[in-house]
Amino acid sequence: MLGVMPPASDLPLPPPRDPSGPYRICCVCLGNICRSPMADAVLRAQIAKVGLDHRVVVDSAGTGDWHVGERMHRTASRQLNRHGYDGDTHRARQFDRSWLAERDLIVAMDASNLRDLRALADGDEDHRIRLFGEVGALRGAEVPDPYYGGDADFASVLAMLETGMSHLAARLKELPDLPT
Ligand code: 4NP
Repeated sequence: MLGVMPPASDLPLPPPRDPSGPYRICCVCLGNICRSPMADAVLRAQIAKVGLDHRVVVDSAGTGDWHVGERMHRTASRQLNRHGYDGDTHRARQFDRSWLAERDLIVAMDASNLRDLRALADGDEDHRIRLFGEVGALRGAEVPDPYYGGDADFASVLAMLETGMSHLAARLKELPDLPT
């Protein structure tokens, strides 16, 4: 059939840049104090669960600089700690353009983060910049911004991240050429 593209969730993950080094993933949101540090903590745990913790490196950043150096949002860290993740050691960073050439996969939490990252990339590395709901098999869903929300909003973000990141970890396990 002509002109039929596979759904975004069927796109293969970007291949490793350097099969002799770890596969590097950066989770990105706006402020790097709510969603992306939560995504980072959850993905690390899922990666350890599938035995890839020596082969995949995860970090996070925000597209904005307002919170650089700050700890996670208090409600985000409370949710993480309550569910057995580390919510205490994170310090917010702004995404640096130079990281585009270093990361194998950049996971944007929402469509505006995706747009901002792709604008920064200016046509380079677009295939490595993906929406969370695409790599997490959540039909392209966006992670809603919980910044002004309460415990229930952060709890629902955490649940969404756990579902999507467990799918991403399973997909990473199937990547050919993942460094050993
Ligand atoms: P995040 O949430 O992008 O998930 O870290 C936000 C953090 C800060 C702001 C907005 C969202 N802010 O407007 O400062």
